[in-house]
Amino acid sequence: MIRFLISAAFVVTIFLHDYSFSGDAEAGKARYAQNCGNCHGPAGMGLASYPKIQGKEIAYLVDRLKTYRAGTKIGPNSSLMIMMAQPLSDTEIENLAAYLSSAHNNN
Ligand code: HEC
Repeated sequence: MIRFLISAAFVVTIFLHDYSFSGDAEAGKARYAQNCGNCHGPAGMGLASYPKIQGKEIAYLVDRLKTYRAGTKIGPNSSLMIMMAQPLSDTEIENLAAYLSSAHNNN
């Protein structure tokens, strides 16, 4: 039983590890620079009423972007984000999430 638990924990660790490295942060940074920063500010630090999106969990960011992409509202200004998320591919979303989760104000 213990042996089973240890190997199960090992498999979960590998899975989480793979997941957190599934996006290409450099590609995400380039995609972010195309237009996301117009609203969310440099490196996703947030600007006026636009939410800060840097430093959040990858899974959270992926989920938010896919929710907007599907046309589902989250907050009062979702229509803006739904428009922005609609053209994103799964790969772009993963790359953006990888970049934003690790972004700091100075990169
Ligand atoms: C026209 C302005 C605008 C642009 C451009 C824009 N966003 Fe947003 N974004 C918003 C607004 C406004 C919200 C909050 C929407 C709501 O009320 O649900 C938001 C929300 C988000 C959220 C969810 C934040 C949270 O914690 O709930 C993420 C993630 C996000 N944007 C990522 C991006 C990415 C990545 C891009 C570029 C592809 C982008 N945004 C481009 C305005 C914008």
